[in-house]
Amino acid sequence: MDGHDWRPLLEGTADQAARFLESLPERRVGWTATSEELRAALGGRLPEDPTPAEKVVTALAEAAEPGIVGTQSGRYFGFVIGGALPAALAADWLTGAWDQNAGLYAGGPAAAVVEEVVVGWLAELLGLPAGVSASLLTGCQMAHVTALAAARHRVLADAGWDVEQHGLIGAPPVGIAVGAERHVTVDRALRYLGLGSATATVVPADGQGRMRPDALRAVLEGTTWPTIVCAQVGNVNTGAVDPVAELADITHAHGGWLHVDGAFGLWAAASPSLRHLVEGVETADSWATDAHKWLNVPYDSGLAFCAHPGDHRAAMSVQASYLIRADPGGERDAMDFTPEFSRRARAFPIYAAIRSLGRSGIAAMIDRCCALARRFAAALAAADGVEVLNEVALNQVLVRFPGAGGDTDERTRTVVRLVQEEGTCWLSGTVWQGRAAMRISVSNWSTTEEDVDRSVDAILRCAATVG
Ligand SMILES: Cc1ncc(COP(=O)(O)O)c(C=O)c1O
Repeated sequence: MDGHDWRPLLEGTADQAARFLESLPERRVGWTATSEELRAALGGRLPEDPTPAEKVVTALAEAAEPGIVGTQSGRYFGFVIGGALPAALAADWLTGAWDQNAGLYAGGPAAAVVEEVVVGWLAELLGLPAGVSASLLTGCQMAHVTALAAARHRVLADAGWDVEQHGLIGAPPVGIAVGAERHVTVDRALRYLGLGSATATVVPADGQGRMRPDALRAVLEGTTWPTIVCAQVGNVNTGAVDPVAELADITHAHGGWLHVDGAFGLWAAASPSLRHLVEGVETADSWATDAHKWLNVPYDSGLAFCAHPGDHRAAMSVQASYLIRADPGGERDAMDFTPEFSRRARAFPIYAAIRSLGRSGIAAMIDRCCALARRFAAALAAADGVEVLNEVALNQVLVRFPGAGGDTDERTRTVVRLVQEEGTCWLSGTVWQGRAAMRISVSNWSTTEEDVDRSVDAILRCAATVG
């Protein structure tokens, strides 16, 4: 397609995208089509013959629209999603146009250098030790896999075992300790690494979901095995932050490795006013987080950092005779630090996000989301028949609707469903320590006080209809 006339296609696509983004302030946040309607609009037989690119894109945009969730809207509060900053979105388009293979320096020197630059910037923003190694991955799930592979390498090397060469069959036992309120991706990472999700010792958490240091101490006291401890900054429900400095001291006193799941909570470190919440986080051995959540970079953009670059590289590096490697001691080949071989040049949108906001803009975005979460909590808590379940330390709010009696779990689930159907905003439900709750996550750069107030009104209107 060297001779393709790109301009009409890309300009037309930009127009489609701009119209979608401009519709967000008034667009219904949730989707409207059923899965059957979407299959009917988008499915059909495998196309036999070519279709012009403009026609393909126009038809796709039209057919997909009713099934598109307004995650880019300032009134999207589901899961922990985050939108896409304008500069990051535009750089993401360029990333597609350039189509670099960022596995090797030779696959895209600019991509490799930008990756090196953003790793330095991110380490500084997140308060991590200078010289940490990093991987830019699909998401926090693969960041756990990567960081825990480095941890597995280290603790088994300390026990005299080369896990990269010999695998786990016949290996010395590895102790794993996880918090009771860990994210499920930690379990899945342990599974992927052959460590098993059921072999971990579960360390009790407090009412907000924070791992209890006294309980970790008790667990490790009985252990003679090399141990990996998985802590968390930012519980997916409450936003609660483990006391990482204390957990790191306890873990290190037993010769263990402390990994931190900071999918969104680690971004508190980027705000001078919130940094105290994650004090001591830099004393851990590895960290997993996302740029696609609180940095508001488009999917998919996860990040793993490791305080021990040698262990990180030992767990991930690969060689083949046809790979043109960067000069030893010279340029960085990202595939030495990632489980992927070929990969998208994810550093470009991260670079654009950081340059467009700067350190102060990122801090302001994190602070704003937290202030808006507190605004949500205050407005809802002031209403009759509404209970806020968590200490709103970060950007997460958990709400229940006790109403005038009857089954509060059922009523809460009904209010969540009605709010989703009503369309002013979108949020989801959860079960927190045995009780059904509505989850509100304020993670979007564009959310305003007016968005929160409109959403509170919609939630209370829906709650009122349940009685
Ligand atoms: C605390 C925590 N860890 C891990 C994840 C998984 O992140 P990802 O979807 O990027 O893999 C999430 C997602 O919400 C999370 O909140």
